[in-house]
Amino acid sequence: MSEIVAPHLRLGVNIDHVATIRNARGGAHPDPVRAALAAIAAGADGITAHLREDRRHIRDDDMIRLKAAIGATPLNFEMAATGQMLDIALAVKPHAACLVPERRTERTTEGGLDVVAGHDPLVAFASELRRAGIRVSLFIEPALEAVEAAHSIGAPVVELHTGAWCDAVLAGDTAKAAADFDRIVHAARRAHELGIECHAGHGLTFDTARLIATLPQVVELNIGHFLVGEAVFTGLEAAIARMRAAMIEGRQAVRPLHQAGAGS
Ligand code: PXP
Repeated sequence: MSEIVAPHLRLGVNIDHVATIRNARGGAHPDPVRAALAAIAAGADGITAHLREDRRHIRDDDMIRLKAAIGATPLNFEMAATGQMLDIALAVKPHAACLVPERRTERTTEGGLDVVAGHDPLVAFASELRRAGIRVSLFIEPALEAVEAAHSIGAPVVELHTGAWCDAVLAGDTAKAAADFDRIVHAARRAHELGIECHAGHGLTFDTARLIATLPQVVELNIGHFLVGEAVFTGLEAAIARMRAAMIEGRQAVRPLHQAGAGS
């Protein structure tokens, strides 16, 4: 078996859909902050929450309560690049801000940021966050031009959108899944070459997280919907433990990082 030299693969647990369930009845239960604390107790390395413009799940006071409750555990604030979100992020001061595209009519974040067309405004936006000590990551398509545009924006981190690949895997479309995975592999390698920290997320399950974990350049996964869904059947702690086990299994198949750029 290969020597494992890939860095620890962090798990960021996204608790948005605990808030979705809470909001279905308009009360306070289940509380996403309680879910965040349970996720940390179960081994999450960080907590992720997306404050959407329409506040369909996480609300402003959830972000404030999350920051206060989770202490030193990193809080990753997913947000659209708008003036209102910037003000909130500067007030909450999360560890990291992940800039995502947002459309009111979408069911979830359907694609990556248009980092090529949005280049100049993103440079200014990211530098405001950076000045406040907030680490900026850009949620992008797994495409070389997107990684290169993120580099020229000066982003220290990119998160590769794994949604299209996960959908192809679930649909049993093996040709598309293979092509999409290949794009992720190449984008992760390019990010690493450019000195950008590489994260991945969207639509990940136990099986797809295990596969993504084999990419040594990827150092963080952000996973929400599947874990909250599994928690209905097994509890959040068991779902996170099983996800962690899948990630470790994937990591054990990793080739040493210095060899990972060669071949396919
Ligand atoms: N990463 C980003 C940037 C996202 O927008 C989302 C969805 O909010 C996720 C990860 C998590 O996706 P999922 O809920 O499908 O696991």
